[in-house]
Amino acid sequence: MYPSSISTLAKVGISLLLASRVRAQDRTTEQGEAAINDPAVECAIYSYPPVASAVAGGQFPPIWQPVTSVPANDTEGRAKFLAINGSIPAISPKGTMAGDFSNFTPTYSSTDPDCWWTYHQCTTPKLSGLSPDVASVPEPRTLGYGFDDGPNCSHNAFYDYLSARGQSATMFFIGSNVLDWPLEAQRAIADGHEVCAHTWSHRYMTSFTNEGAFGELWYSLKAIKLVTGVTPKCWRPPYGDVDDRIRYIATQLGLETVIWKYDSFDWMVCPSLLPHEILLADTGANTHASQVGTNGVTQATVQANYDALIGNVSAGTFDTVGAIMLTHELNNFTMQAAIDNYPALVKAFDHLVPIAVAQNKTQPYVETNYTMPSFAQYISNHSAASSLKGLNDTSASGSGSGQGAQATGSGAGVSMRLPVRRSVGVLAAFVVVTGAMRWAV
Ligand SMILES: *[C@@H]1O[C@H](CO)[C@@H](O)[C@H](O)[C@H]1NC(C)=O
Ligand SMILES: *[C@@H]1O[C@H](CO)[C@@H](O)[C@H](O)[C@H]1NC(C)=O
Ligand SMILES: *[C@@H]1O[C@H](CO)[C@@H](O)[C@H](O)[C@H]1NC(C)=O
Ligand SMILES: *[C@@H]1O[C@H](CO)[C@@H](O)[C@H](O)[C@H]1NC(C)=O
Ligand SMILES: *[C@@H]1O[C@H](CO)[C@@H](O)[C@H](O)[C@H]1NC(C)=O
Ligand SMILES: *[C@@H]1O[C@H](CO)[C@@H](O)[C@H](O)[C@H]1NC(C)=O
Ligand SMILES: *[C@@H]1O[C@H](CO)[C@@H](O)[C@H](O)[C@H]1NC(C)=O
Ligand SMILES: *[C@@H]1O[C@H](CO)[C@@H](O)[C@H](O)[C@H]1NC(C)=O
Ligand SMILES: *[C@@H]1O[C@H](CO)[C@@H](O)[C@H](O)[C@H]1NC(C)=O
Repeated sequence: MYPSSISTLAKVGISLLLASRVRAQDRTTEQGEAAINDPAVECAIYSYPPVASAVAGGQFPPIWQPVTSVPANDTEGRAKFLAINGSIPAISPKGTMAGDFSNFTPTYSSTDPDCWWTYHQCTTPKLSGLSPDVASVPEPRTLGYGFDDGPNCSHNAFYDYLSARGQSATMFFIGSNVLDWPLEAQRAIADGHEVCAHTWSHRYMTSFTNEGAFGELWYSLKAIKLVTGVTPKCWRPPYGDVDDRIRYIATQLGLETVIWKYDSFDWMVCPSLLPHEILLADTGANTHASQVGTNGVTQATVQANYDALIGNVSAGTFDTVGAIMLTHELNNFTMQAAIDNYPALVKAFDHLVPIAVAQNKTQPYVETNYTMPSFAQYISNHSAASSLKGLNDTSASGSGSGQGAQATGSGAGVSMRLPVRRSVGVLAAFVVVTGAMRWAV
């Protein structure tokens, strides 16, 4: 019977292997994608039919390319743009899409008439009728917890970490990334995170024409809606580059502008760039790219920035108004820095919450059948103790209750995460690569 036992064991082994391989290759559902642990598998290109057909049908501008127009065949977008075009403030575009303002600043008035954030971090518009940018959260000793530039293909380790602690955050998603990684974008909603827009192609917004700037916001909202079923009411300008013209256009699209007061500078450390920056870095044209890994910013600088923020809490800096710090879902370094600093942030601040939660915005999207908890509701389920629970427990499963968000329906085709996740069925492997949906090299 010896040979036969071996053979039985071997069969079991092979079928386990096959099961785990098949499971690891389910790239067709949010749950399947969320269950992948190997970043190389996570970051292998897959095709998601609703995105593939929308892209093939000409419903979006080329991925990662700056938007130049809102074409007539996009009847909804075109009508909306034409309806606001006449009232957009007469402020000229500034600099280049890559953020070179050297030809512009010498002629710009030092009174900062446009409330241009890039100039002197202005957040209170000069133009009447515009709301101030959100640069802090109203709740004292609270961190409005958020991350830019996602969804990143390799984010499962990071999202698993947050999920295991019942922690949600505000994710500022780039439209082009959402179409590249739709199941990852769906995971943000399923995990109870708040999703805000971070433009279509992540360029300097004040450089765009009115139509281009409108399109950068419009198509990022369309991408998020197509993939997740919700339409954000908040956005963050890449590099903080916003002025009253851009604020006006955003306001007309129902978007609140969210900025920050503290910067971890995590994005400057690692040479992992957004796809368009790889192109720009080759030409030396991108200031963001040229700062990465240079400018004296090291991992130690980023840690010092986190430490300073944490020190500011005990120094009483946030005793009346809470903080927002710029951090990124950009690459392994930025996400790992977030994980490494999470325990200290939770201990220092009274609360870490998504920005909408700190604002009591219980309906963060245009679609009203999706709600997030109020601040009071959120913190009742997220004491420091419960957030820290499991920090030393690497298994840390099943503690993700009170995930933050509720859908009264399953709009978007994204089901809300149950406290115990990973009930992933074994599905046939389905990996189709369409060059059409990728940015072209
Ligand atoms: C709309 O027009 C643009 C060019 O202006 C084209 O690239 C795109 O495919 C068209 N989309 C549809 C849905 O016809
Ligand atoms: C938008 O408004 C500007 C200024 O009023 C005008 O010059 C331009 O032609 C308008 N664009 C369109 C597409 O109507
Ligand atoms: C925060 O802490 C840093 C480092 O101690 C300090 O330089 C900075 O002035 C503090 N910021 C505020 C607003 O208190
Ligand atoms: C996502 O993260 C991975 C791992 O750090 C990195 O290689 C990749 O460049 C990132 N993707 C984007 C689009 O930033
Ligand atoms: C970063 O990479 C290391 C080494 O591959 C891995 O152990 C870790 O989980 C990654 N961190 C994140 C947040 O993805
Ligand atoms: C949020 O609601 C709580 C009451 O539940 C209130 O104390 C707090 O001031 C509200 N915050 C904002 C920003 O509205
Ligand atoms: C985790 O372990 C460290 C030391 O190993 C300890 O100081 C810390 O209090 C522990 N945290 C929790 C939440 O148990
Ligand atoms: C708080 O947790 C309880 C129990 O897990 C859950 O029923 C409730 O929906 C949660 N509330 C919020 C606002 O997350
Ligand atoms: C939620 O509302 C949106 C439109 O506002 C709709 O498309 C979606 O189907 C709704 N979801 C459910 C489950 O009712």
